[in-house]
Amino acid sequence: MKPKLPTKLLYGGDYNPEQWPESVWLEDVRLMRAAGVNMISLGIFSWAKLQPTEKRWDFGWLDRGMDLLAKNNISVCLATATASPPPWLSTKYPEVLPVTADGVTLQIGSRQQYSPSSRVYQKFAAALVRKIAARYRRHPALAAWHINNEYACHLQECHGADSTRAFRDWLRTKYRALAALNAAWGTAFWSQAYGAWDEVLTPRRAPYHSNPTQCLDFKRFTSDAFLALHRMEAAILRAATPAIPLTTNFMGFFKPLDYRAWAPEIDFVAWDSYPDPVDEKAARHAGAVGHDLMRSLKPDRPFVLMEQATSAVNWRPVNLPKRPGIMRLQSLQVLARGGDGVMFFQWRASIAGAEKFHSGLVQHVPAAASRVFAEVKALGAELKKLAPVAGSLVHNRVALAFDWHAWWAVELESKPGRIDYAAWAQALHRWFYEHNIGVDFVHPGSSLAAYDLVVAPALYLLPAKSAVNLTAFVARGGTLLATYFSGIVDEHEHVVPGGYPALLREVLGLWVEEWAPYPEGRKNGVRFGGRKVTCDHWCDLLHLEGAQALANYTGDFFAGRPAVTRHSHGRGAAYYLGTRLDAAGLDLLLGRVVREAKVAPVLRTPAGVEATVRESTKHRFLFLLNHTDKATKVSLGGYRGRELLTGKIASRSLLLPPLGVTVIQIP
Ligand code: GLA
Repeated sequence: MKPKLPTKLLYGGDYNPEQWPESVWLEDVRLMRAAGVNMISLGIFSWAKLQPTEKRWDFGWLDRGMDLLAKNNISVCLATATASPPPWLSTKYPEVLPVTADGVTLQIGSRQQYSPSSRVYQKFAAALVRKIAARYRRHPALAAWHINNEYACHLQECHGADSTRAFRDWLRTKYRALAALNAAWGTAFWSQAYGAWDEVLTPRRAPYHSNPTQCLDFKRFTSDAFLALHRMEAAILRAATPAIPLTTNFMGFFKPLDYRAWAPEIDFVAWDSYPDPVDEKAARHAGAVGHDLMRSLKPDRPFVLMEQATSAVNWRPVNLPKRPGIMRLQSLQVLARGGDGVMFFQWRASIAGAEKFHSGLVQHVPAAASRVFAEVKALGAELKKLAPVAGSLVHNRVALAFDWHAWWAVELESKPGRIDYAAWAQALHRWFYEHNIGVDFVHPGSSLAAYDLVVAPALYLLPAKSAVNLTAFVARGGTLLATYFSGIVDEHEHVVPGGYPALLREVLGLWVEEWAPYPEGRKNGVRFGGRKVTCDHWCDLLHLEGAQALANYTGDFFAGRPAVTRHSHGRGAAYYLGTRLDAAGLDLLLGRVVREAKVAPVLRTPAGVEATVRESTKHRFLFLLNHTDKATKVSLGGYRGRELLTGKIASRSLLLPPLGVTVIQIP
């Protein structure tokens, strides 16, 4: 039996009724209905309430909550409640508590205080999930499972006894023989050779740089350790309820977890997005690029935004509210980029605890007097009008090669310079975003058949198979843009010698002899065609082997040498960017690359107007989002159809009000 995926646009949020007297629940469901809420995530932090002592269970309150929601036609994404173990667990079994690299044991009183490799935690979590699954498997309100919550959000690694044992087991499975581990970790260096498995530790605080391959393997292990927990819960739920889809909430560009390895283990992608309202311009791209990364994990179905804030959060030093219109705009951006759900943390703002100043759909003030609730209600009504969008997909012709292993490796210590991998990928994505050219995120070793252009920033760690894949993509007629510090090391983080990036030399038609990473603030110039632009951060010193120079450095001891190149290979072309160009330079380069790849924007719009398209078998949906405070006229090109929010026919052009959105259904 296949899980039944959600088929409508979901609207709602985390609901924590255990924080409130049951009399408040009646007002909750009344307001949920008034707001058009159709799904809530229930009981995420309710373990202590469900199991107040090791031997005692209390499901009465949850039974009543589930029944009340079912009676009111509100579906439940039911939590497995394993994210915050109750105090009794670690009081009796202190070994569940996580340990930092410095050997500090993290204590109770907050949340997520468990080691992912703790056998005791696993046993008790499994028992809890079994109980919940058995009790609610046939409940009419149950529509999906919400496993744990934001795995690894606060607790990103553990060095305790169980984790050390599990790390050794993981290494044994990977390397089989200790000799293979010694070879992979390069332990001939600094007298690090291991003579017995028991000598191998997690990378704890050490006098100087730890072994980089050990650190890289520990990151891989940690992602797998959390994934093993997820799998454990998922197996219980699948056995109990094969038709109920399950998910866990991801966090976008979250480094500790290789979400690409996780994606096959969930039925739909759910994620949490909290761009800072302080910088709205940055926030609009932060939302978009996060949606693109998350959507790409399961491109054949819409994702769900599981959490965002209606207004302020509580966890930044200064927490600005979202001004009127921003919450709506950001919510409709979710739909624009392939999401079918707009959910929030949390339904009702708490009055006690660390998150009492985090906004909710229902604030501390009466709903009837609340600006935020008025916007929530209005958005709920609009989502009903947008119902036809549900299930439609996003199809793009540009891919951005992005790999968690490359991310982990390039940001390990003792590198020539500092590369912020996610920021570099996002900076390149931003150009496409601002030009209304849709981008998917892919693994460099995955099928690239759907794409005309692949952008591959800083693939420092590049397995040979991925290099072959990128080369074949170009040979078949694709356009590739690779950047500095790519293809430097293999999976073990060993340099591939012979002129960097050895495995991409053929396709790029060049090799890199040296590099000059620049300190913050230092700049060089680049002559690009007839123009002079600036560059910073990094300068590769290239030798051409068939590639043609498009731009040359103007300063430093390598003035005159190439900075940007193009090489024909097979039926396609490979570009190389050896430095970080300023905005004008990036425009020159990407403008040319996009022309060569024959990739066109969805629509050319005035600055600040985002345009995207979703497609179903019957329709296309053009989304236009005006992120500016000015009424803006947009020419529609050939697009013509019905505006879903107003019912009006749109053709030729339309005027978007400040922060305005339209969705045009095109037959
Ligand atoms: C995360 C968590 C929620 C809540 C919000 C606050 O996303 O999943 O439980 O703490 O942050 O923004």
